Amino acid sequence: MKIVRAKDYADMSRKAANLISAQVILKPDCVLGLATGSTPIGAYKQLSEWYQKGDVDFSQVSTYNLDEYRGLSHDDPQSYHYFMRDNFFNHINIDINNTHVPDGANPDAAAACAEYDAMVAAAGYPDLQLLGIGNNGHIGFNEPDNHFSKGTHCVDLTESTIQANSRLFDSIDQVPRQAYTMGTQTIMYARMIVIVANGEKKAQAVHDMCFGPVTPQCPASILQLHTNCVVVADEAALALCP
Ligand code: F6R
Repeated sequence: MKIVRAKDYADMSRKAANLISAQVILKPDCVLGLATGSTPIGAYKQLSEWYQKGDVDFSQVSTYNLDEYRGLSHDDPQSYHYFMRDNFFNHINIDINNTHVPDGANPDAAAACAEYDAMVAAAGYPDLQLLGIGNNGHIGFNEPDNHFSKGTHCVDLTESTIQANSRLFDSIDQVPRQAYTMGTQTIMYARMIVIVANGEKKAQAVHDMCFGPVTPQCPASILQLHTNCVVVADEAALALCP
């Protein structure tokens, strides 16, 4: 694991965007694994600006997102389909047909997950996977558990994740209780992983990810075993790290 120290959120976002843009420049038809949540928004904004300036071209890139709430339509403003268009895809020259998010609108969880797994495998898995980290150490929606997950599957969100994500909904009752998520094994197949974190709320999770035991109780800790994983975090998120 390589830890890249950023001063603050803006610096973290720029550094992460630099790594992603280098990947796209080196391999214009690369496969990017993408995340939602608050943390990567700054990196998406930075990449959109660099696209507008003509510095990076997404026309041949394809993307696979980590997760989606079960039961939300693609046009629901709370869905991750919508989030990705709103925060990134609508601002760059990516072919929207080459963007993929698990189909939360498909109520058949087994079919939706198997279909997504097959698509990610057929694409050869991400060249670069961007991740955020939950306060409880989750990656994607792989919550603390007694085992590491494998492929895309349906999860029951933990109370702490429902609570954390409720800030984006009108009320906590509106937060979906289930999601489809790429599994930990699939995430580990990415050839490079960039995980971003900012703010003191993430400090314990970032410490446990980088310096704690490798355990499914902190799903992100498995990234210690990845051969090309870069943690880009600001000072507050690194406050508990040596
Ligand atoms: C979202 C995802 C989640 C988030 C995590 C952190 O696609 O995979 O694991 O990365 O919950 O969320 P934020 O960035 O909102 O703190």
